[in-house]
Amino acid sequence: MMKYKNTEFYKIIKDIYELDEVKRLDKCKHHGITRLDHCLRVSYYTYTITKALHLNYKDATRAALLHDFFTDEVSGLKMYGRFSKHPKIAYNNASKYFKLNKLQKDIIVKHMWPCTLTPPKYFESWIVDIIDDISAVFERGYVTRKELQFGASFLYLFILSRFR
Ligand SMILES: [Fe+2]
Ligand SMILES: [Fe+2]
Repeated sequence: MMKYKNTEFYKIIKDIYELDEVKRLDKCKHHGITRLDHCLRVSYYTYTITKALHLNYKDATRAALLHDFFTDEVSGLKMYGRFSKHPKIAYNNASKYFKLNKLQKDIIVKHMWPCTLTPPKYFESWIVDIIDDISAVFERGYVTRKELQFGASFLYLFILSRFR
């Protein structure tokens, strides 16, 4: 059951969310929750923030849902290898099922910057990178929901003041 009750958000991600291979992410542990829940959270925050900023929110929202599209491909790797290699693996997996444009490739492949040395190219990619980091901190239980909301609002206002 989809926990984010937003019709437009659901319409944007529907075909991805309903793919069996993506549903399998619900069986993978990730930051103490499931990888599917993590990807949905990053995707939903990406949707709200990039839409409010009049960016390419549809493409960004879809790419954000696919940013950690892998199952056990990194299981043999050490921590740094996992951090640096899973974005490429996620991109390869995602492109088997979906046609991805340059923006979406950049979002997925660079979401672990600075572990993935080349920095993001697009504003949308930076946003997903930051949302992913904030979500990871929240999911690991280092901050509470209130603090996360405060952090997200602060980020939103900061971005607005810098770029609008
Ligand atoms: Fe990731
Ligand atoms: Fe992630």
